Amino acid sequence: MQRNFKVSLKKMIAEIEKRYSPLIFDERNISEKDLMEIFKAASKAPSSYNEQPWLFYYAYKGSKAYEKLLESMVSYNKAWASTAPVLVLISARKFYALNQQENQHARFDTGTAVGFLLIQAMHLGIYAHMLGGFDPDLVRSSLQLENSIDIIAIMALGYPGNIDLLPEDLKKRAKTRSQRKEVTEIAIKLE
Ligand SMILES: Cc1cc2nc3c(=O)[nH]c(=O)nc-3n(C[C@H](O)[C@H](O)[C@H](O)COP(=O)(O)O)c2cc1C
Repeated sequence: MQRNFKVSLKKMIAEIEKRYSPLIFDERNISEKDLMEIFKAASKAPSSYNEQPWLFYYAYKGSKAYEKLLESMVSYNKAWASTAPVLVLISARKFYALNQQENQHARFDTGTAVGFLLIQAMHLGIYAHMLGGFDPDLVRSSLQLENSIDIIAIMALGYPGNIDLLPEDLKKRAKTRSQRKEVTEIAIKLE
């Protein structure tokens, strides 16, 4: 039987529907209260043995840590991420506190937590743009993070800015929304 996926897509909550990764952020700052609400949402995610392996190191623009995170980025990312009022280093504890064994699910769990965080952020009108184009070794040494902490990604957080202020190449990208695969390509029914 053919399913009408269009009907179910309409039921998607607005926070998921509207989300995208901005290439420019507004100067408006994020309050610490809103940031805590966002991280609180992340804390509600499920995790293997309820280990909650995720660690979010956040830095406001103007702080030394913000500069260190920015410095670690490839120049393309630096160009847009430097407009964000807050940068977050997404990381995870590699080992279970329970038995010191390696937690094979730490990245999976952290990704889930980030998903929760993104939805709560959108609810507050705060957008995120994740980036993997940075040097994790540089971040580890500049922030003095132990090897037991897995450095996963950096997230730029803020309110979306005016794309007319972007240089031409970025403006072009900012005006196009990323495409998605059809639901039928990613959801495969097993008999
Ligand atoms: C783990 C991860 C790493 C990413 N790395 C980069 C990056 O280095 N530079 C960049 O501009 N965007 C980066 N992105 C953003 C993706 O390109 C973007 O999420 C994807 O194209 C979908 O677009 P949307 O978020 O606007 O829907 C990254 C996203 C994730 C989740």
